[in-house]
Amino acid sequence: MNYVIGVDLGTSAVKILLVDKNGEVVRSVSKAYPLTQEKTGYSEQNPEHWVEQTLVGLKELLKDFKGNAANIEGMSFSGQMHGLVLLDEQNEVLRPAILWNDTRTTAQCQQIYDVIGEDRLLQITKNPALEGFTLPKILWVKEHEPQLFKRAKTFVLPKDYLRYRLTGELHMEYSDAAGTLLLDVGRKEWSTTICELLDIDPSICPPLLDSHDEVGTISIDVTQATGLFTTTRVFAGGADNACGAIGSGILEDGKTLCSIGTSGVILSYEATPDKDFNGKVHYFNHGVSNAFYTMGVTLAAGHSLTWFKEVFASEESFQELLTEVSSVPVGSNGLLFTPYLVGERTPHADATIRASFIGMDSSHQRKDFVRAVLEGITFSLNESIEIFRKNGKLIDTIVSIGGGAQNDEWLQMQADIFGAKIIRLTSEQGPGMGAAMLAAYGCEWFDSLRDCAEEFLKEDKQFTPIKTNVDKYKKLFAIYQQVYNQTKDLNKELLELRK
Ligand code: XUL
Repeated sequence: MNYVIGVDLGTSAVKILLVDKNGEVVRSVSKAYPLTQEKTGYSEQNPEHWVEQTLVGLKELLKDFKGNAANIEGMSFSGQMHGLVLLDEQNEVLRPAILWNDTRTTAQCQQIYDVIGEDRLLQITKNPALEGFTLPKILWVKEHEPQLFKRAKTFVLPKDYLRYRLTGELHMEYSDAAGTLLLDVGRKEWSTTICELLDIDPSICPPLLDSHDEVGTISIDVTQATGLFTTTRVFAGGADNACGAIGSGILEDGKTLCSIGTSGVILSYEATPDKDFNGKVHYFNHGVSNAFYTMGVTLAAGHSLTWFKEVFASEESFQELLTEVSSVPVGSNGLLFTPYLVGERTPHADATIRASFIGMDSSHQRKDFVRAVLEGITFSLNESIEIFRKNGKLIDTIVSIGGGAQNDEWLQMQADIFGAKIIRLTSEQGPGMGAAMLAAYGCEWFDSLRDCAEEFLKEDKQFTPIKTNVDKYKKLFAIYQQVYNQTKDLNKELLELRK
């Protein structure tokens, strides 16, 4: 039997899958690494941790593997998007990576609008200037760490750096490049206009590839550290959301994904780059050649639940915490949560907004709070679905993956709040599976990613909306939507008290 490996470099951990020719996950390993939040709005990681933990994870993956590692034909990557990794002349890392959920760059976003203009930026990149994207981070380093920036020879994104360390080859691929705000998304080339106007040397932008393109093979050092063979072919891979879409079969028009990891996204396939959402949702290149996707992002989706568990139920497992939810009625007995723990992206691109619990009552118990957190995350994702629907997209069936797909109650909640049929897959591996599928396609196991999806992905269960719940949630969602405007100014005033 032959195999491929999918490596998903996430925000909290790297998850590695060994997948056989039938799409079965024969082994999987997850290795965590820390995230540093030095100040409010800051979020950084040490790229060396990604490499160390991936090597440890690969070694563990192969330790009790009954097959032959020489039969691992290919490997590819999925990665957290937007994170800035700056490299010097020798490709040494110059500073900790500034991640997608770091929002220190509001002033740089304004600078981008002032210099480029909102319309031109949207025309070239299909996206607005948001704190999480890479270009504002480059401008921040240029302004605040000018001596260090002078030494910067190139920049890459997290999984590109990891791939470089495994192969010695430095590239970026389109689906992740789209999230830098330096790519002309429609033309699939770096925007020299943006570079010139912002006085950035275009030579810092690395060579571009398609997600299934082969970049090389595993280096000898890495084979020694892991037990892999130099014959394993390495393919470029994609942004975690593009890979999540591939790994869930979002490969043609009309297909929509709900993915809940640290962040949460609602993502829909687009065949062309020319639909107009006026920058209200992201518009990125897909991991499928010459295809695209639109996407709304909730910054703290799974992160809201993790935060709640760490602060109020640190001794319990997620499973224990969530068992309480089914005994709480729809609407959490009048408790409402907005998940703006680290600011928000869609529909309110606002780095200073913070979360709220509205309607706390002395009768409320912890389980009401847990249900309210799940409902709040799902309402936030529903805002993206509303934008899609208002722009004429039909959203009646959604594949759900990630943390939100681990719990039946939450899947039913998604069906009721989204007013759509929710599908759970049998082996729901999301981005890691998407990466493995890119390797399988790169190795020519299949003629297309769609053929691969047909073989690898199977539906497990459907959740359909329950009319009485849908009606209750509609009313509640209308209240939820008012909380942002009602709390915006209060949060601005509280800003100076934050760490
Ligand atoms: C997407 C985004 C997040 C990260 C999470 O724009 O910022 O979903 O990709 O890894």
